[in-house]
Amino acid sequence: MERGKGEEKEPCLEDGVAAMARCYRGFNPTAYLQYNYTPPRADFTRPDSIVPWKLACLHRAFTEGDVGGEMLVDVGSGPTLYQVLSGCEKFGRVVLTDFLDVNRTELKRWLGEEEGSFDWTPYLQHVCQLEGRGASAWQEKAARLRSVVTEILPIDVHKPSPLPAGSLPSSGADCLVSSFCLESVSPDLASFTRALGHVSSLLRPGGHLLLIGALGESYYMGGPGVRIPVVPLDEAQVCDSLRASGYTLLHLSIYTLPPDMRVGVDDVTGIFFAKARKA
Ligand code: SAH
Ligand code: ADE
Repeated sequence: MERGKGEEKEPCLEDGVAAMARCYRGFNPTAYLQYNYTPPRADFTRPDSIVPWKLACLHRAFTEGDVGGEMLVDVGSGPTLYQVLSGCEKFGRVVLTDFLDVNRTELKRWLGEEEGSFDWTPYLQHVCQLEGRGASAWQEKAARLRSVVTEILPIDVHKPSPLPAGSLPSSGADCLVSSFCLESVSPDLASFTRALGHVSSLLRPGGHLLLIGALGESYYMGGPGVRIPVVPLDEAQVCDSLRASGYTLLHLSIYTLPPDMRVGVDDVTGIFFAKARKA
């Protein structure tokens, strides 16, 4: 059937996004945690391992003195908590979000101290060390995190209003964190930039965005046989998207993967960490 010109745009946009959502049906939180959040990618004895690098960036960003307030929102949390371990000390309320029920359930399991949930202890200990508190403070940090996480909400960054209506105060969150989400759910650069714009509507003017993501990645494994396409980004595209969405870039760090971090679960070549302020 022939389509009129005006009808073409929406269904096409929807196709790429709908195809991404289908890929996520097979996402396996346990496998994903195993691929990305155990050694060698999470080796706390090596400063050149991916996770210690990410935790150092987050620690720095949250201790420079300019980031704080009442509400921190983590966009596309997945089954992971590492991305809020520094931020949870600076905000009275932390909201976690994910598209998939299996991931929200995994997070609830840890918050509820359920048997068999992922062990974030070495992460808590490492961040306590960064904070100069000594590794034994990790239980206090775990308790702090459990007390400040007030909600775990469904989110869809492809919607102009990604969260359920009324979830946030109308002024918006004071800070957003998002790691490995936007590029991993967007079929192309235009969709990535559009999603960034949607997410930015959750942030108050003057608030901070801490954005972490993959460079040069065309796919990652979300479980055995679950190949999820990713829009391959370069540094300039990340900066351009941030500026196009009304951000002032305060800081950008790039990590290049050492050969032994290329473990066959994706084709990522580097990782970016951006700290930006919304105009
Ligand atoms: N932040 C975590 C997880 C990233 S994996 C980390 O740093 O490891 C990408 C996440 O995006 C998955 O948890 C997936 O469920 C979520 N996702 C998939 N489609 C999405 C959408 N349309 N909107 C928001 N998140 C989505
Ligand atoms: N760590 C978490 N998610 C990742 C991804 N998609 N690519 C590379 N490293 C990751």
